[in-house]
Amino acid sequence: MDISDASRTTTQTVTDYDRAKEVQAFDDTKAGVKGLVDAGIVNIPRIFIRPPEELVEELTSHQTNSQVPVIDLDGVRGNKLEEIVDQVRAAAETWGFFQVVNHGIPLNVLEEIIEGIRKFNEQDVELKKEFYTRDRARNVRFNSNFDLHYSRTANWRDTLTISALASTDLDPNEYPEVCRDAVREYIKNVTKLGETLFELLSLALGLKAEHLQEIGCPKEYTLPCHYYPSCPQPDLTLGATGHSDPSFLTILLQDQIGGLQVFHDNQWVGVQPIVGGLVVNIGDFLEVVSNDKFKSVNHRVVAGHVGPRVSVACFFMGHNAEIPKSYGPIKELTSEENPPIYRDFLPSECFSKRFSMAVDDNSLLHQLKL
Ligand code: OGA
Ligand code: NI
Repeated sequence: MDISDASRTTTQTVTDYDRAKEVQAFDDTKAGVKGLVDAGIVNIPRIFIRPPEELVEELTSHQTNSQVPVIDLDGVRGNKLEEIVDQVRAAAETWGFFQVVNHGIPLNVLEEIIEGIRKFNEQDVELKKEFYTRDRARNVRFNSNFDLHYSRTANWRDTLTISALASTDLDPNEYPEVCRDAVREYIKNVTKLGETLFELLSLALGLKAEHLQEIGCPKEYTLPCHYYPSCPQPDLTLGATGHSDPSFLTILLQDQIGGLQVFHDNQWVGVQPIVGGLVVNIGDFLEVVSNDKFKSVNHRVVAGHVGPRVSVACFFMGHNAEIPKSYGPIKELTSEENPPIYRDFLPSECFSKRFSMAVDDNSLLHQLKL
């Protein structure tokens, strides 16, 4: 099917089919997108097909040679600190994204969690189903498309989410057994890197190094671990619809397949995988507390014939569920000439809002504007 055929199909769909029913039937399988691929489908179900106007717009999008900045963290505890802080500031103000290398997390830790998440998704479907839920009170949950029931178009991906709250460290026995050790080891490392990055971001804002840490930015975190199966018709759907992240900061580990794109200078720019590298992006909450100095930028994942692609995001969410704390533009960053442009918010309020909106509903920041 080419794109114009798809446009006709989707135009019909608006009137001809009961989307909610098909979405529910897909959800009821508890087997996710991988279940469809395993069943050998050649045409993707229409709940995944993007609206015709989006498909047409895609045809006019340009290729670009720009690249998300790569920052070498070697020497961050020594004579390179100032240079690194300058690079972090420039990236956070313009791209909202950068990649880091020499960040201190051993390559085997990265490889093992990617492998662990792949194994989780590829194990017997009955074992996976035990984790299938949309109940956000569960700290470990597996499902396909957190916004399945209210998005316009479903994404070609399944996700295992692991949440950790401030006061109670999650009991690792709750993690799925196939990836338990790998997840535990990765969390230990990625949270430490998170602290370093919050120090660099504090300095980049002209604050003392401990500032963002002291207000609790790295306190609670959630790991959405994604599995993007190969897609028979990748031009008709997306792995993840464009969105910004409901976090202070996100550290993303991607495998070597590629597909992540960042919206920069009015076009989608691919984030090239780097062996051993990690992608870092500013989330909505940091945009607010920095009073718009740092940018929370839209990004998405394209679907591909080649797969599965595995990625592991780590959203740092501040004091969220356990000890709610409100955040607003940091006093030191505002003045008479630069008044606060956002109101105070509770991360938990934003987080629950975010989870009752489609992934591409980017009104969260607007709702917080004064
Ligand atoms: C996310 C995200 C990108 C990816 O989890 O918010 O943007 O490459 N993931 O999986
Ligand atoms: Ni994201």
